[in-house]
Amino acid sequence: MAKKPWGGRFRLPLSKSAEKFTQSISYDRRLCKVDIVQSIAYAEALLKAKVLSQQELKKIVGGLEAILRSAEAGHADFRADLEDIHMNVETLLIERVGDVGKKLHTGRSRNDQVATDLRMYVKWETTETIILIKHLIEVILELAENNIKAIMPGYTHLQKAQPVLFAHQLLAYVEMLKRDKERFAQAYERTDSMPLGSGSLSGTNFDLDRTALAKSLGFSKVTSNSMDAVSDRDFVIDYISASAQLMMHLSRFAEEVILWATDEFGFMELSDAYSTGSSLMPQKKNPDVAELVRGKSGRVYGNLMAILTVMKAQPLTYNRDMQEDKEALFDTIDTVKECASIFAEMLKTAKINSEAMRKAAGKGYLAATDLAYYLVRQNVPFRDAHEIVGKIVSYCEESNMELEYMSLNQLKQFSDRFSYDVQRILTAEASINSKTTFGGTSTKRVKEAITRARANLLHDKA
Ligand code: ARG
Repeated sequence: MAKKPWGGRFRLPLSKSAEKFTQSISYDRRLCKVDIVQSIAYAEALLKAKVLSQQELKKIVGGLEAILRSAEAGHADFRADLEDIHMNVETLLIERVGDVGKKLHTGRSRNDQVATDLRMYVKWETTETIILIKHLIEVILELAENNIKAIMPGYTHLQKAQPVLFAHQLLAYVEMLKRDKERFAQAYERTDSMPLGSGSLSGTNFDLDRTALAKSLGFSKVTSNSMDAVSDRDFVIDYISASAQLMMHLSRFAEEVILWATDEFGFMELSDAYSTGSSLMPQKKNPDVAELVRGKSGRVYGNLMAILTVMKAQPLTYNRDMQEDKEALFDTIDTVKECASIFAEMLKTAKINSEAMRKAAGKGYLAATDLAYYLVRQNVPFRDAHEIVGKIVSYCEESNMELEYMSLNQLKQFSDRFSYDVQRILTAEASINSKTTFGGTSTKRVKEAITRARANLLHDKA
């Protein structure tokens, strides 16, 4: 077994069980690239701080680049007895370039190193997540545009309420995803602060130009308190928390897709390529992709609980508990990215059955509210109008008839304020196009909303 980089004061070797228990290389190997990029920039800062000579720098950078190349080609020989990615890379470097490699860690601790690695990694992944959300928004907007005439029942309590454009319902999800995108963009801003130069907890003895170092690592600012810098994992919580909300939105959408794909609704047919069958029942076609997206919200919520609990009650500054941040984070990143991207594929290939939607919107007295408003316009107080239309609905129910088939004479038996123009308002189309206020479901407003959403995708910084 190799000597530990921290082995100086130890008389006994670490037990095998403790070694296995404390290692993180099995999962933090993901940080290899950011760790090496960080080390190259750090070595350059050590040159400016006069810790390294030009020649030493060259050797170290050459060694680090070679390690990165071999790691990217899958040849890196990482060892669990070296605990984590940081000590593995450092050891590989010393093996490659000799004693000069031992100078790299001057003034740096794994505490500011891991915090910096992780922030670099989260920044990159946040950008990727935002790109996937934007792609999903584009797919939804396309679906809305291609089905701009489709009318469906809008629901409250999962009971038919008022007719809406299918596009309007889709745009509700665009709004949610837009907020998700903003949350990730805000999280990015907070992540974009460099801890390097904080040392173990109190700062560093060497003359590091932290601002220049931050610039070369693509950070827009540096952290301002070394103790906070090494013990802060808010940026991990921010990412997972934004992910939890995103998953909650995807899960709600998935739930609707699952309903719409049932025979009872029949609003949507999922492509065979995104459905699976039953091993027993030959006729089955199941919406497993949507169900798994709904199901995977559970693990992301779990990850959020895990990291909040890991951080709670830790005294300042670094504690090994924090190593538990990584698996929750990595699992969240993988889950959220895969869900956003497969959800877009599933929607893109789905078939919309606008006839079934329209049929559903024609049943269930969805124009009742519009009928009440008709009376309001004839100066009937709203509460009275509500009561009158309630009675009409009850009459329709008894005679098994839809509102739009009521003749003027029949309507007049409930109120003398009805006149010839009333039938015009009883269709789903009329109901929809009377919702003309900003944010409403009239075709004009929905088309405007699509244009706005497109402009937002083009112009936002996120
Ligand atoms: N593997 C550790 C982690 O992920 C790196 C930092 C360890 N620092 C320490 N002083 N033990 O948190």
